[in-house]
Amino acid sequence: MSFQSNQRPETGAFFARDRGWHAPALTPEYKTSILRSPQRPLLSLDGTISEITGPVFGHSMIGELDNDLIQNYARPGESAIGERIIVHGRVLDESARPVRGALLEFWQANAGGRYRHKKETYLAAIDPNFGGCGRTITDDDGHYAFRTVKPGPYPWPNGVNDWRPAHIHFSVFGHGFAQRLITQMYFEGDPMIWKCPIVQTIPDRAAIEQLIAPLDWGQTIPMDARAFKFDIVLRGRRSTLFENRLEGN
Ligand SMILES: [Fe+2]
Repeated sequence: MSFQSNQRPETGAFFARDRGWHAPALTPEYKTSILRSPQRPLLSLDGTISEITGPVFGHSMIGELDNDLIQNYARPGESAIGERIIVHGRVLDESARPVRGALLEFWQANAGGRYRHKKETYLAAIDPNFGGCGRTITDDDGHYAFRTVKPGPYPWPNGVNDWRPAHIHFSVFGHGFAQRLITQMYFEGDPMIWKCPIVQTIPDRAAIEQLIAPLDWGQTIPMDARAFKFDIVLRGRRSTLFENRLEGN
């Protein structure tokens, strides 16, 4: 982590989350939501400085292969097995401003749908050259990109026969802890998306479609990797403290 002198701290309050857009906390068809959802009504608290500010991430903290899941766990001269893809997009806030310097962390199953985790029980094979996680930081235009293999779908213990569609998990740190977003990206054209109990917890079909990355033919690298585009929108600020006055005042 580093603090850059050209970045002023942003301290304006964030817009409230639209709870009709996000999945509700209690969704019994997604069984683990029952125990972990709040049992009492939510209280609304004003943001304090610890929520409306956040760490500033420097590009120097990112390793050369951190955004390349095909290579970042591979033995020398080898690479991960699977369909080679590039995932890229922009991180914006609700006011459509690019969020620069945002830390994106991503993790996923391998091409067979298997995670590299000691509690993973799916019978699909481990790929010795695939770790399944990486990170990157957005540039001044809010853009990010990483290279990976397309994850496989996998079964999970929920209902009798529930499967997760192919997906990549994202954690995004923007400019304030209140902006933190954990989400998942799906792939255009996958029929498994609409059968998933976790996807079905999202009430608005348009909100689901926002999580589906379309094939981006224009960014495909011939003879190498296809590209998928996934833009991410973080909470916006009502106002930005600019020196000693509020922006727009
Ligand atoms: Fe997953």
